[in-house]
Amino acid sequence: MLIAQISDTHIKGDGVLAYGHIDTSGFLSRAVDHILHLDPRPDVVLATGDLVDAGTPAEYARLRHLLVPLPMPVYLIPGNHDNRDALRATFADQPWMPREGFIQYVVDDGPLRLIAVDTLIPGKPSGRVDAERLRWLDARLGEAPAKPTAIFMHHPPFKTAIDYMDEIGLDGADAMAEVVRRHPQVERVLCGHLHRSIQARWAGTLALTAPATAHQVGLDVRPRNGLMVTLEPPGYALHLWRPDVGLVSHVANVGDFQSYRVAPPKSA
Ligand SMILES: [Fe+2]
Repeated sequence: MLIAQISDTHIKGDGVLAYGHIDTSGFLSRAVDHILHLDPRPDVVLATGDLVDAGTPAEYARLRHLLVPLPMPVYLIPGNHDNRDALRATFADQPWMPREGFIQYVVDDGPLRLIAVDTLIPGKPSGRVDAERLRWLDARLGEAPAKPTAIFMHHPPFKTAIDYMDEIGLDGADAMAEVVRRHPQVERVLCGHLHRSIQARWAGTLALTAPATAHQVGLDVRPRNGLMVTLEPPGYALHLWRPDVGLVSHVANVGDFQSYRVAPPKSA
């Protein structure tokens, strides 16, 4: 089972550039094209929040249009830039989309079980997992204790040392850690929000953030040094589940890079 995790696509209106410079729609198109040319092709795509920039219906319509070329299921969760109602309305025909409440659901039709957790607090840049959301997660994890599982959510539950982003982190992370520790089948916690690839041991498992498909957050761990966005190579995470390998997580960069074959393929 192969999972492509795109994140922080930040789609804006037609012709509107992020920060006056960044064509996020063009970046998403190139990421989609990159995914389509992977061999083998991913079985599913997860989009871990900040799907659009201002949460408007027009932005979600544009996002939907940009995702059309992907033939596999695409599972969405909201980030702090999203609007739950507008997201729900645009993707109401998707079988996984809850009709009301938090946008949380389980995907259980492959060898790796996927659980979407909604961390959105409307109008706030930080996220939250409150008692209601954690009870739901605990119950879902309790349904399949022997099945390898990945949780996906926007705000990471761990500190990154990029202070600006940690200050808009996840409220309730310690309580969530107590839940996750009770369920050792959790192989991974897949997050976005940070616009770059970061990993940490958390609650007895591995939690990570995927790069963004457009702009990245600058690598700057100096205390309280503000926020820089950068056009380092964009990318997405690629998670492979194979019985003889387990779950292994890669980062794919999207761009024109030279490659040189240095050994011939091995015959089977
Ligand atoms: Fe973002």
